[in-house]
Amino acid sequence: MVWDLKGVIAVIKGIVTFIPGITKFIQKTSGATIGSTSARYCYSVWLRHLIIANKNGFIEHPKIVAELGPGDSLGIGFAALISGADKYYGLDVIEFANNESNEEMFDDLVELFVKKTPIPDANEFPRLKPLLDSYEFPNYIFDDNYLEIILSKDRIDKIRSSIIPASNNEMDYIPIKYIVPWDDEKVILKNSVDMIISQAVLEHVNDIEDSYVAMHKWLKPNGFMSHEIDFKCHRIFSNWDCHWTCSDFIWKLIVGKRKYLLNRYSYSVHVNSLQKAGFKIICDIKNKSESTIKRKNLAKNFIKMPDDDMTTSEALILATPTD
Ligand SMILES: C[S@@+](CC[C@H](N)C(=O)[O-])C[C@H]1O[C@@H](n2cnc3c(N)ncnc32)[C@H](O)[C@@H]1O
Repeated sequence: MVWDLKGVIAVIKGIVTFIPGITKFIQKTSGATIGSTSARYCYSVWLRHLIIANKNGFIEHPKIVAELGPGDSLGIGFAALISGADKYYGLDVIEFANNESNEEMFDDLVELFVKKTPIPDANEFPRLKPLLDSYEFPNYIFDDNYLEIILSKDRIDKIRSSIIPASNNEMDYIPIKYIVPWDDEKVILKNSVDMIISQAVLEHVNDIEDSYVAMHKWLKPNGFMSHEIDFKCHRIFSNWDCHWTCSDFIWKLIVGKRKYLLNRYSYSVHVNSLQKAGFKIICDIKNKSESTIKRKNLAKNFIKMPDDDMTTSEALILATPTD
């Protein structure tokens, strides 16, 4: 392992999680977002995925949307509903999102659509990927007729009243299902979903193979999934790729008793898993970073990592079922 002070602190922090009661505190207080409590972040993430899907031939507005790992808010789901979806599933393993800020988040998102606000770019969210060629509001996806329909007062009021917890019980229209924890693929009906989205999530998912299999079951044959995956070490070390130098034992100490930290799967592992689950890749947008480690320093499990993985720090993967 290539040690640095941050790595040593990470090991100590991991060991501390073995003290009863501490894990929940550490996991909850470390939060679960790089910005999802902000409406502008959720708007930007949603539109970035939608635009890339649209450019790759998925031009229908998705009606049923599922998101893995919404994190600190359901804002991406609200953006999907405002955009024309009828149903949104948010699946997480820890309940980070709270209802208190739902109304404010929803109203802010509606305003962003009403004003056809340009998509917040790297100046506002420097770490946010994927990048786009243009951050103009996508009029070609939301023409005026369509905007008039989706932003009609009746429709917006109906969605809004369904997200206010107090009124939820009496509602027959419940467009949002926030399922935590989700540990069974049966939480969503087979062949029912048009789009699955995740942002900075699949690098945390422990059982990636089963998760891709579940996603394959949920998607309609002509549906698609769009995942932005961050392969970096999430600042556990000073250099972005040092997590690949840790032995399994050291990594186990760093993870400690947390429900999840990072699965350390590199780009090609995701590609193999999703292909095995029955997907084909339509488009991938890789973000490249210079490797800071030598191949000989890679831990045993990673020693055969392809050269391309060693410099792939993030990727957007858009895929669809093959069968
Ligand atoms: C870094 S946060 C990203 C949150 C949000 N998508 C965003 O863009 O800010 C990672 C999220 O993935 C969730 N997560 C981890 N393992 C998961 C799993 N197996 N299934 C669904 N979500 C998972 C975490 O609980 C957390 O909400």
